[in-house]
Amino acid sequence: MVQWVVITGASSGIGQVLTIGFSNSGYNVLAIGRNEIALQRTKLLTKNSKVTIVIADLSEESELDKVVKILKVKIKYLIHCVATTEPHLPLTTITRAALEKAINVNVMAPIFLTQKLALYFDAMTRVLFIGSDYIGVNNKIRPNITGSYGISKSALRVAVEYFRHEYKDTAFSFKSL
Ligand SMILES: NC(=O)c1ccc[n+]([C@@H]2O[C@H](COP(=O)([O-])OP(=O)(O)OC[C@H]3O[C@@H](n4cnc5c(N)ncnc54)[C@H](OP(=O)(O)O)[C@@H]3O)[C@@H](O)[C@H]2O)c1
Repeated sequence: MVQWVVITGASSGIGQVLTIGFSNSGYNVLAIGRNEIALQRTKLLTKNSKVTIVIADLSEESELDKVVKILKVKIKYLIHCVATTEPHLPLTTITRAALEKAINVNVMAPIFLTQKLALYFDAMTRVLFIGSDYIGVNNKIRPNITGSYGISKSALRVAVEYFRHEYKDTAFSFKSL
């Protein structure tokens, strides 16, 4: 049986590489992003085009249903690569709207997409959140990365622990890298 992998942030970087790798390994991949041309390019880079593209802004609650609607089968892997390092502004000057936008992409999108897709999880499902070593460890920060990215990646790391705890009686597995 062909298995499904859902990858956010599939139009560039790590998500693109994973999309190509899973597709070339025989998986069906649901590749999500906003940039249709970049997603089509990702698909063209695969050997077998086992990629279904979903154009969605995952920071918008209403756009999450585009992903939910297209799936009809259980998911083997859900891999969250979606993220933004923008805006490149210090916390001393960032606006509330700009910080909310970063948090919407980096934290809310992976949390609420996971929540919605849980419908398609079974005992073999594995969910991976790509984190960052920029998160504050022992109260240390990396001054060369912005507060909005650091704050949101730290929050996502904690969210993964809550998912693990809340789903501990299931066989789903949550991991943060
Ligand atoms: N690269 C690194 O050195 C590094 C280091 C540590 C951790 N990470 C983490 O690894 C993951 C991937 O990083 P990367 O460097 O490969 O990222 P990237 O190339 O910047 O890709 C980010 C992806 O997120 C998508 N995206 C952004 N906003 C979106 C939105 N509102 N709705 C839907 N998709 C959206 C973009 O697609 P569209 O533009 O098509 O929407 C893009 O495909 C991220 O979580 C990042 O924090 C990266």
